[in-house]
Amino acid sequence: MSRRTHPATPPAPPRPWWHDAVVYQVYPRSFQDADGDGVGDLAGIALRLDYLTWLGVNAIWLSPIYPSPLVDFGYDVSDYTAVDPVYGTLDDLGRLIAEAHARGLRLILDLVPSHTSDRHPWFQASRSSRDDPKRDWYLWRDPAPDGGPPNNWLSHFGGRAWTWDAATGQFYLHSFVPEQPDLNWRNPEVLDAMAGVMRFWLDRGIDGFRVDVIHNLLKDEAFRDDPPNPDFVPGPGANPYHSLRHLHSSDQPDVHRLLRWFRRQIDAYPGRVLIGEVEYGSSVERLARFYGDGDELHLALNFSLMTLPWESAAIADHLARYDAALPPGACPTFVVGNHDRARVATRIGPAQARVAAMLLLTARNTPFVYQGDELGMRNAELGPEHQRDPWGLRVPGHGRDPVRTPMRWDASGHAGFTTGEPWLPVGDDAGTENVARLREDERSILTLHRRLLALRRADAVFTLGRQRVLPLAGDVVGYVREDGERRVWVALNLGSREVEVETPGAGGGTIALSTALDREGEAVGRSLRLRGDEGCVVVLGRNSGRGTSTPRAGRAGPHDRGWP
Ligand code: GLC
Repeated sequence: MSRRTHPATPPAPPRPWWHDAVVYQVYPRSFQDADGDGVGDLAGIALRLDYLTWLGVNAIWLSPIYPSPLVDFGYDVSDYTAVDPVYGTLDDLGRLIAEAHARGLRLILDLVPSHTSDRHPWFQASRSSRDDPKRDWYLWRDPAPDGGPPNNWLSHFGGRAWTWDAATGQFYLHSFVPEQPDLNWRNPEVLDAMAGVMRFWLDRGIDGFRVDVIHNLLKDEAFRDDPPNPDFVPGPGANPYHSLRHLHSSDQPDVHRLLRWFRRQIDAYPGRVLIGEVEYGSSVERLARFYGDGDELHLALNFSLMTLPWESAAIADHLARYDAALPPGACPTFVVGNHDRARVATRIGPAQARVAAMLLLTARNTPFVYQGDELGMRNAELGPEHQRDPWGLRVPGHGRDPVRTPMRWDASGHAGFTTGEPWLPVGDDAGTENVARLREDERSILTLHRRLLALRRADAVFTLGRQRVLPLAGDVVGYVREDGERRVWVALNLGSREVEVETPGAGGGTIALSTALDREGEAVGRSLRLRGDEGCVVVLGRNSGRGTSTPRAGRAGPHDRGWP
């Protein structure tokens, strides 16, 4: 056998799956109840996997499923290595992972390392005495000289971030409610314990973690006061948390050291993804820093489409600057909805929610879709008796219950979500705004999501292509995705008036999809007429009509059979 003298060029590493994925956020309490107790569960999610493959997403992120006293609805974890009985068992999770993987769907869990529940055995031990070996797993401090809290830090959910513990004569820190004490991430024993937690789930085959509030993990070692925020405008609706600038209570520079540590844990399991929740309102530069030198987060969640004014200038500027700010090889993300903020259809209206879906699913990024946004769900009108969220109970107007109401599957009682009494009502319009009806409607927002997802799958330009943001044309945000010869133009009218926009390049093109779902195949010349609130995907070039195949909803596709 001849010995090879010139080593072959190593093959390019395969593209990580999350660069091409669309992640669907499941809020387990509200997705599907299989046992009739009115709360969603893992067995219920398994029953609906065929819906997710029919829709065309690739990965599911589950909000927390761990045992929790539910003060913050699962984001107060009392056992990191178990499943809350209300959701099922570890075996149910194993089955869900296997059934998801059998369909080519990845499963991502939420990891909440910044704080535990006050019922967690770690905190119970920590608060039992000043000498307990776990005392330093949390952040305990003596009172200030006047007997008050050690500094001026505030809780995200209203009030002080410190609670007095009379038994041991110290305050403990909680960035959220007092029932969510913050872990001390400067204590190596905490790192060891959390590494064990991560291994526990990774060994069971999950595909990665979405890590909660990573900017919150480390605090100033000297516990200095946060300075006042000069831009804060007090008044009804204002969140008092923003009266300070959180220079010391969050986002410390050495959090990057910690993120590299998280990444090493994940890298021990090839093919698993590390996603981080980064503070709302982060600049593009700050978002970029969380990718490190390719050794921190794989994906940093970008909430800008939820926080920026929904105006063409702001959105186009953000698209251009975000893409430019990210380090080479880093994959952008966009989120237009989640369990924490108003529904996109409520924030910007149902017509623009369709435009936002087109942006989310055609811009260069790994998109995150929140359950129910594909149905155009709006914030539910809930009476005070349904107010459950601690944020809303502490700071009026901030309750998140209206965005967490159950999925609507069909027109049956409680929208097919449960045979019992749902933990939150399904809402008045569930009789018509449900999966069963909207999937039969060729022009529905559900059909639009499915068509956009199909387009994205069928044409690599949407995942591999570079992105060039076009100069602003009034209310129209435009960008071109390019991959070799293939060029696709996306034009989004963020205004309600009809406009005429110039086609980029000289060759014209063909409409592949309009948000109104009624212009497929229409030829485009030197300009494109966009109706108010309309977005279009246009394949550029003279022969653009050919090769533009976008499976229509309703036609048999590979995943159609077996949909319940
Ligand atoms: C994250 C979660 C939110 C939770 C908070 C505290 O922002 O998304 O639901 O309340 O962290 O854990």
